[in-house]
Amino acid sequence: MRVFVILPAAGLGTRMAAGQPKQFLELAGAPILIHSLSAFAQVPQVAAIYVAVRPSEQDRVETQVREHGFAEKVRIVPGGDTRQESVANALNTLECADDDIVLVHDAVRPLIDAGTIARTIEAVEKHDAALVGLPAIDTIKQVERTADGAMITATIPREYIVLAQTPQGFRCGLLKRAFAEALADGFTGTDEASIVERSGAQVFVVPGSPANIKITQPGDLELAEFYLSRR
Ligand code: C5P
Repeated sequence: MRVFVILPAAGLGTRMAAGQPKQFLELAGAPILIHSLSAFAQVPQVAAIYVAVRPSEQDRVETQVREHGFAEKVRIVPGGDTRQESVANALNTLECADDDIVLVHDAVRPLIDAGTIARTIEAVEKHDAALVGLPAIDTIKQVERTADGAMITATIPREYIVLAQTPQGFRCGLLKRAFAEALADGFTGTDEASIVERSGAQVFVVPGSPANIKITQPGDLELAEFYLSRR
């Protein structure tokens, strides 16, 4: 059994308003994407890492990957218009056995740690599908959008809620079959688990850490620097 990693890194990151996609912003002297890559490159079981990028950014990513010494394990593939398309492009080039493991991780979660990656791999070995999730701390409300905001329609008991992070890991055969079904049905999900769930498989939750933030909006970079400085 081998472990492969897919890092979708083809987003535009418009919410960040930083003038360039957030995965290329510098965090403690290295691009965010390189921090994420480095975490997985150091895992001995990982055979190869597929990074999906916009074709216009391929040269810059290849240079960064080479400069940081990860070229041997990394394959660059073209990203798509949605995260799902970016992951699908990587998955299509990945030749794997059914029981190999594929971990998908947001390139913009640079603070992922070795322990969480190891626990995710163990969970996939046992359950075939697993994601890192954070229990909800706040009270969760369901709302209906209105012209001037939102109106609450229900309160969802928070013990039923987990906030999905990444990595999300799956047996390769299971993930490929679920992606093929989603494509045939025209379904687009915002994470891989939603695609696998609709195929009927159960997805196990690995407890995550609040430090595994997704760099999304102004201020997140400062927060990531703070967490890094405490390591
Ligand atoms: O946009 P969001 O924050 O959900 O992006 C999560 C990850 O998916 C990011 O690493 C982003 O670069 C990636 N992505 C992608 N292709 C897209 C959109 C997002 O690889 N078309």
